[in-house]
Amino acid sequence: MSATPESSHEAERKKVTTHTLQRMKRKGVKIAALTAYDYLMARLIDEAGIDLILVGDSAAMVIQGKDTTVGVTMEQMLYHAAVVRKGVERAIVVADLPFMSYQVNADEALRNSGRMVKEAGAEAVKLEGGEQICATVRRIVDVGIPVMGHLGLTPQSIHKFGTYRVRAEDAEEAEEIRRDARALQDAGAFALVLEKVPASLGYEISQALTIPVIGIGAGPGCDGQVLVSHDMLGIYTRFKPRFVRRYAELADAMRQAFGNFAEDVRSNDFPQESESY
Ligand code: KIV
Repeated sequence: MSATPESSHEAERKKVTTHTLQRMKRKGVKIAALTAYDYLMARLIDEAGIDLILVGDSAAMVIQGKDTTVGVTMEQMLYHAAVVRKGVERAIVVADLPFMSYQVNADEALRNSGRMVKEAGAEAVKLEGGEQICATVRRIVDVGIPVMGHLGLTPQSIHKFGTYRVRAEDAEEAEEIRRDARALQDAGAFALVLEKVPASLGYEISQALTIPVIGIGAGPGCDGQVLVSHDMLGIYTRFKPRFVRRYAELADAMRQAFGNFAEDVRSNDFPQESESY
């Protein structure tokens, strides 16, 4: 396989920007994205060469133990974004705007996007929704803040939909998502997350748009893929959607390590002389 600038050695540590992602789309180089919520995880993900790090509002579930993403606050997301940013040199850092931080009006959305960039150091913000938030997207983009859209399964609307089922299985919902995707692109979004839709729709929308489409449960035809780190590492085990591939079983390994430590403390095996002063 011939090396493209984005995959070649000299480009490996070059800062990823929205332009890099655009170029990757044009050249057919797939974009790898993962979520992070803290400094150390962000640093490891960045060192592994992941292109885009999303400070997801999934923090509500995998960090705070909540049942949905709706409860995480703006202040909490600012904190997560700031500590993630500190650990990242290469990847582009995109931070989720939490539920109700951008829906009330465009002024509030703009103010909160500005905080995410200015106070936390995020390089872009992500928000959920289609045509109904395009005026807001345009307003944020106009001041120079890149915006990523999020369509398909939009977890902030879980109480409206009542289920995490696959979206757009019927023609009407598929058409709505196609329309929303085009509208977000026209409003100036630099990329789009497409969650839990049929693979055929993921492929079709990725082909139709000029901006990168990052899929999560949207099939192999998207321009890139994103997963929640705690899912792919096997740390978050409350449930496992079909679209998650586990690259490790860290929950088991961690439980084992914690148990071994407790056993060693109780049996006086730890600490040894070499571990003492
Ligand atoms: O919050 C999150 O982790 C996300 C991903 C699922 C894309 O939005």
